[in-house]
Amino acid sequence: MADLSINFAGIEAPNPFWLASAPPTNTGEQIMRAYEHGWGGAVWKTLGTPIRNVSARFAANDFAGQRMMGLNNIELITDRPLDVNYAEIREVTRKYPDRATIVSLMFETEDEWKENIERSIENGAKGLELNFGCPHGMCERGMGSAVGQEPMVLERITNWVMRYASVPVIVKLTPNITDITVPGLAAQHGGANAVSLINTIKSVMAVDLDTMVPVPNVGGASTNGGYCGPAVKPIALNMVGQLARHRDFSLPISGIGGISTWKDAAEFIALGATSVQVCTAVMHHGYRIVEDMTDGLSRWMDDKGYRTIQDFAGRASRHFVNWEDLDMNFKVVAAIDPAKCIGCQLCYVACKDGSHHCIYLPGDGTGKAPDTGFDRVPYVAHDECTGCNLCSLVCPVENCISMVEVDRGLSPVTWKQFTAGEATLPAYAYKH
Ligand SMILES: Cc1cc2nc3c(=O)[nH]c(=O)nc-3n(C[C@H](O)[C@H](O)[C@H](O)COP(=O)(O)O)c2cc1C
Ligand code: SF4
Ligand code: SF4
Repeated sequence: MADLSINFAGIEAPNPFWLASAPPTNTGEQIMRAYEHGWGGAVWKTLGTPIRNVSARFAANDFAGQRMMGLNNIELITDRPLDVNYAEIREVTRKYPDRATIVSLMFETEDEWKENIERSIENGAKGLELNFGCPHGMCERGMGSAVGQEPMVLERITNWVMRYASVPVIVKLTPNITDITVPGLAAQHGGANAVSLINTIKSVMAVDLDTMVPVPNVGGASTNGGYCGPAVKPIALNMVGQLARHRDFSLPISGIGGISTWKDAAEFIALGATSVQVCTAVMHHGYRIVEDMTDGLSRWMDDKGYRTIQDFAGRASRHFVNWEDLDMNFKVVAAIDPAKCIGCQLCYVACKDGSHHCIYLPGDGTGKAPDTGFDRVPYVAHDECTGCNLCSLVCPVENCISMVEVDRGLSPVTWKQFTAGEATLPAYAYKH
């Protein structure tokens, strides 16, 4: 059986699935229920000088029948008194000593940081997470992403924290920057033990065209919020991978952003994370999803022969290169399985209007599609197909269009080798 336990920057947990700092970690009662379902850790809803929240706070976009593909929020940090939070942290850490209970903090002055680091540790925090990510509200007060976007400030505050922290410190990064490696390296220089990413992406979800008020509507006005949920996963994966591959970056990474299933989690780990955090999927489906996550990850690891999380952490990084290092001679073409095709011809339209027009229809007058007896099944002219993938992405029937490798008898040649004059490429067959 796969061993899902981890040691993340010195923080031990029975599995890599942690709740991200957000409404599912608002209270001790919630976190204890989450632990009963099997969550390996939880990052407490960010503590700071308690704030007031507005109503409404959330907005979401649906896509093709799926609710909450993306979630936007204008909620701030904890709105509960610090004393109440600390008493509950004590109870949770006493009752569940084997879980990674991490306290998220966001303060302004060095004295406030010192006092709250000490109180978190006294009450049993296994680690601290510094919230340098909120892109709304708190940043207007000089905290959250206002810190995450200023590497020197981020480094200085991390430095303060490291003076007082006797437990591992994770710096949570904002994605609202140009190059994630800059704040990542600043956290490392500041002495952090790990980083987590991503926090939410600055966003406006929609505009109500009857009232002309963007959503969520707070008494006739709105403001930008933070975007998260399944829609942000590709952005988060890119940032996690980019940081993990940076040659000067050596801290453990907790991956966050759109994780809903064990597969999502495994992908973050394959690109270099060694723990993952989940928010929107729990807000949507509840704590119980962790049962499928641990079960699925464990079965997959058994299947692949991975005994521990470390066995596959970062495995996909070696297959990630710059564009200039891709093999220009590698070639695939689309192949339609006539037995599966339902004749909807979506692939034909997509290729004709949105790609390279190399799919033909029987009887279309070009004479390219042979008469196969399947009169609605499109025909791909392989000598014209650029292998872009589009038709296979729009086809509604699973595995009906496969992308098949064509052996052209050519050795691999990269753009870098070509432009350096180290290799030649065959003439480019573009569409006239
Ligand atoms: C309603 C809401 C409140 C959040 N509050 C916090 C917070 O207090 N501190 C924090 O570090 N992140 C906060 N986040 C960000 C999440 O921890 C997480 O980074 C983000 O939602 C991306 O993960 P997801 O796609 O799984 O939701 C909040 C997110 C949501 C949706
Ligand atoms: S999109 Fe798929 S099912 Fe529709 S015609 Fe093309 S191959 Fe057939
Ligand atoms: S892979 Fe691209 S170019 Fe080839 S048939 Fe499909 S859509 Fe057209």
